[in-house]
Amino acid sequence: MTDARFPDTWAPYMTWAKHQRKARWDLTGSNLLPCAMEEMPGARDAMELYGRNDDGWPPLVEAVAQRFGVTTEEVATATGGSGANFLAFAALVRPGDHVLVESPGYDPHGGAARFLGAEVTTFQRRWKDRFRLDPEAVARAVTPRTRAIVITNLHNPSGAYASRADLEAIGAVARSVDAKVVVDEVYLDASFGVDSTPAARLGPEFISTSSLTKSYGLAGVRVGWLLADPDTIERCLRVRDVVDAVGSIPSETIGAFAFQHLDRLLDRARTILQANHRLMGAFVEGRKELDWLVPAGGGVAFPRLLGVDDVSDFVEWARRHHDVGVTPGSLFDTPAHFRVALAGERSVLETGLQLLGQALDDWGG
Ligand SMILES: Cc1ncc(COP(=O)(O)O)c(C=O)c1O
Repeated sequence: MTDARFPDTWAPYMTWAKHQRKARWDLTGSNLLPCAMEEMPGARDAMELYGRNDDGWPPLVEAVAQRFGVTTEEVATATGGSGANFLAFAALVRPGDHVLVESPGYDPHGGAARFLGAEVTTFQRRWKDRFRLDPEAVARAVTPRTRAIVITNLHNPSGAYASRADLEAIGAVARSVDAKVVVDEVYLDASFGVDSTPAARLGPEFISTSSLTKSYGLAGVRVGWLLADPDTIERCLRVRDVVDAVGSIPSETIGAFAFQHLDRLLDRARTILQANHRLMGAFVEGRKELDWLVPAGGGVAFPRLLGVDDVSDFVEWARRHHDVGVTPGSLFDTPAHFRVALAGERSVLETGLQLLGQALDDWGG
């Protein structure tokens, strides 16, 4: 039964990611290689089934605040980075407001804003600028009705890093129209050699969202958080009253435990990611038909297939004939690129890239 009020999907990439026919050598994801229970000794004993977490499990809220250098009034927990983003949008946006999202970008951002009744438009992060944020493009795209400007740092899909200067310039644009900048930082902690201070520390016009999924290997725990000024956090908490009321106690108690071991989890992440980034770098270097922005860390890369406007046929062909899967750039409105997962098992990446190379040879030849 169709109902015109409901599109088939609010977020085509997300629906595709869940339902696609996965290749044997799957390089389509972005989660960090899952951390097993055995890699977190003590986690089972730390898990509780009951407790009071009315506005977040207090030890988790405290651990997040301490880790990121903010007060507990500036923290809300949420169901993953996804839940954090939703609470942020729901706390900022009412029907008819305008939300500005980046393109290419992570489509649940625009999807959630549309779901809340916002008008959503995009500003471009251009390949010719190596996907760098362009504060002038943001300034041209805001309106007096803009309530949220949404960006990722590191950028999904390219892994580009947003400098403090560019963030501050976008913050000034937001202030000029009384909007906030939501910075989705799920990949930021697992960056290499850049400042990973959350944007929320720059001023009250910024909201940072993040989780234990991409940088810590705990996607299944579904622990996320927002960092924002106390008024915005209070509004997020009151939105949560009507979204899912409270977080899961098993999740939040394991989350609090994970925060006690966060540096170890981050070392694990960097070890996995650095080896995989090296593999990817060597692969792209060896392929004259590919160009890319070297990501500043994180779990994804977004190479361009030179001389081709839309890689979708190639991606489908590689899956069918070589059983290797990458994400077509069309799902990020950037069809000349494809996204490669760099956060999984090294052996899968190694074989996947070999097969991708064979697919490029055969397809071109
Ligand atoms: C930019 C971005 N934000 C949020 C998420 C969702 O993360 P979580 O598992 O914490 O909900 C993803 C997952 O792909 C992502 O790429």
